[in-house]
Amino acid sequence: MLRLAVLVSGGGTNLQALIDGIEHNRLPGVKIEAVISNKSDAYALERAKKHGISTEIIKIKEYADRQAFAQALLALLVKYNVDLIVLAGCLFIIPEQVIQKYKNRIINIHPSLIPSFCGNGFYGLKVHEAVLARGVKVTGATVHFVDEGTDTGPIILQKPVMVHDDDTPESLQKRVMEEAEWVILPEAVRLISENRVHIKGSRVYISSI
Ligand code: GRF
Repeated sequence: MLRLAVLVSGGGTNLQALIDGIEHNRLPGVKIEAVISNKSDAYALERAKKHGISTEIIKIKEYADRQAFAQALLALLVKYNVDLIVLAGCLFIIPEQVIQKYKNRIINIHPSLIPSFCGNGFYGLKVHEAVLARGVKVTGATVHFVDEGTDTGPIILQKPVMVHDDDTPESLQKRVMEEAEWVILPEAVRLISENRVHIKGSRVYISSI
């Protein structure tokens, strides 16, 4: 069994894609043990509750310092016996202690083709606004391992999405989610559950069996 903790801060549509994948038997041997958020009002938490998934709230401002926050997050991950941490619209910084303890066991979905339109300040609609401002014709989404940088870890999967002349940031975000994010995040989890994802240096190789 691959036990997941999904870290969220917003609407949870990527979480929903994982829930649907599990419930429709597209992710055999995968279980979401907990959904963890820094936002008490994140709709992602409602999605989890509707499917009987445990939820936890953890807010850095409720801790004396980052060290205490890191220890609290680590305790949650141990409590749920987590194998893989999935960042699905997670807007809080993952402490270095967690990244080190879960090296190559944390993945993130980013709404662009990394290394374009990523890094500090590139999240949510801001990504798609920058894509339209630059006038690129192809964008997409990326699933990557999380390392100490921002959107800098080894890339696992990417999926392109064509930019339309009449796109707005909102219409582009919707299509990138529907056509790319909600496809490659569950796919990446499935590949990891089948032990088919191998890191060699900064590159990731997917084995056929
Ligand atoms: C998605 O666009 C994702 O790529 C980014 O944050 C957004 C989260 O959306 N990391 P949701 O909460 O999964 O609906």
